[in-house]
Amino acid sequence: MGMEALPVINGNYNLQNYNDVYSNFNWKNVEEQFSWYESGKLNMAYEAIDRHANSFRKNKVALFYENGERKEKYTFREMSALSNKAANVLKKTTDVEKGDRVFIFMPRSPELYFAVLGAIKVGAIVGPLFEAFMEGAVKDRLEDSEAKVLITTKELLERVPVSDLPALKSVLIVGEDVEEDDVYLDFNKHFSEASSTFEPVWVEREDGLILHYTSGSTGKPKGVLHVHNAMVQHYQTAKWVLDLQEDDIYWCTADPGWVTGTSYGIFGPWLAGATNVIVGGRFSPDNWYKALADYGVTVWYSAPTAFRMLMGAGDELMRKYDLSNLRHIVSVGEPLNPEVIRWGMKVFNLRIHDTWWMTETGGQVICNYPAMEIRPGSMGKPIPGIKAAIVDDRGQELPPNRMGNLAIAKGWPSMMRSIWNNPEKYETYFMPGDWYVSGDSAYMDEDGYFWFQGRVDDVIMTSGERVGPFEVESKLVEHEAVAEAGVIGKPDPVRGEVIKAFIALRDGYEPSDELIENIRQFVKKGLAAHAAPREIEFREKLPKTRSGKIMRRVLKAWELDLPAGDLSSMED
Ligand code: PRX
Repeated sequence: MGMEALPVINGNYNLQNYNDVYSNFNWKNVEEQFSWYESGKLNMAYEAIDRHANSFRKNKVALFYENGERKEKYTFREMSALSNKAANVLKKTTDVEKGDRVFIFMPRSPELYFAVLGAIKVGAIVGPLFEAFMEGAVKDRLEDSEAKVLITTKELLERVPVSDLPALKSVLIVGEDVEEDDVYLDFNKHFSEASSTFEPVWVEREDGLILHYTSGSTGKPKGVLHVHNAMVQHYQTAKWVLDLQEDDIYWCTADPGWVTGTSYGIFGPWLAGATNVIVGGRFSPDNWYKALADYGVTVWYSAPTAFRMLMGAGDELMRKYDLSNLRHIVSVGEPLNPEVIRWGMKVFNLRIHDTWWMTETGGQVICNYPAMEIRPGSMGKPIPGIKAAIVDDRGQELPPNRMGNLAIAKGWPSMMRSIWNNPEKYETYFMPGDWYVSGDSAYMDEDGYFWFQGRVDDVIMTSGERVGPFEVESKLVEHEAVAEAGVIGKPDPVRGEVIKAFIALRDGYEPSDELIENIRQFVKKGLAAHAAPREIEFREKLPKTRSGKIMRRVLKAWELDLPAGDLSSMED
């Protein structure tokens, strides 16, 4: 059971009396802290930015941005004015109405943040798209959501099949020399002309805020809808878990294409009035240590894969940088190995705090708190206001130390409210007793700490990114040489898992290294680099059920040299 417990290093943090707070907590206490509780005027972008722009924080830096030559900073007042401009551009140049989907497909830059906030100010539902998505992935998402407006860059535009998307009415292009017509619009031109005042469109707590597409084991990626009310949890967890204080310089390394990059890269920190650091470009241990040092980052939210890569780069490198401002490190996305926590203790003299949650939960759910004793290898305990349990397949709660489905009692503030266009899918997440079932297996020890065991389904977590095997298989079988494909996650010491594909070739094709590379490129170009199989193995035939479903369980057994289990449903 991991290593011995790690005591609190510095007790001066939020949530010191976890047990007391847990038993007496009511979300209403948090709701009452927002002005909308009285005024009824509610909008996430107003609470995250404008409220501070009209307060003692107006000249505080809200955003430090760095990417290559670009080094910029923006105060809360500037963020407010610039997101107002983006809102005015949307209002003036498109027919966007409250509830319409506005997608944003851009590399990380200040403009991306102005655009997201501006779209929220006009009452739209924002759809952020990871910049590495290729045409197939972009099309699926814009099509399913019936996006009306897209904000993108000139470079990324070539991956958007605009003429195949009838619902898409306007495409705002960030770049030089944009030729305008009815559909294509020059974002920069309208932005420079736009007014910097705008009254946000006031919405209801349950109105749509953001749509994050995420993968399951079957079907195409699904649109997980979150509402403005999620701010109640984003705000409170930014206090309890990120432990954000007035003087903190906070860096969340996730891209806004993923839920961590919005809930805790935009909403949580800015609701708490913190200074946010955004670093563009690719990961390198040098750049990351440099960013931590240059900005004097105090609170850092990242992922196990990144920590493992830093660990692999050696401790000498980090000694070149002054990281003495760092006081709190938080992790999410995959199991955080006790070994990484040990490394963190050694090199930072800080504990790394694991947090567990998912796209569907919208916010942190089970966490390790700075003021609490932590047990390395455990995801921690539920935040106050959340009831978590281990249940069996009928929704019955299991006693401590029994492995089962990690479930959460329905109804927390940031819970997803629907799956876009797919109410049947939404229902599949719930079990009798009003349990939301996560798809993860875990157990809880006698003291209420939760321990992650694995996914119940075939979802792959590679470098902290969630990939659905079906999506990759569908792309693979579009390749001319591929007859059948089955995709699994193969354990990897750095990335958690890597994607491995088993492929049966069509007649007339022979296995070769060239073909492997060709197939990998095909997925890379069609979906995204992170979805391309790292390993491909050719087989004469793949194991299938009689109804023709590829049995990934058997592929996994082949890979890991394990017994394949019950084969009674296999075709022959
Ligand atoms: O399997 C769990 C894993 O990531 C899944 C959720 O992925 P996604 O929706 O992309 O959200 C990732 C970040 C919020 C979960 O079902 N996961 C997330 N956090 C942890 C984790 N696995 C182990 N330990 C964690 N702390």
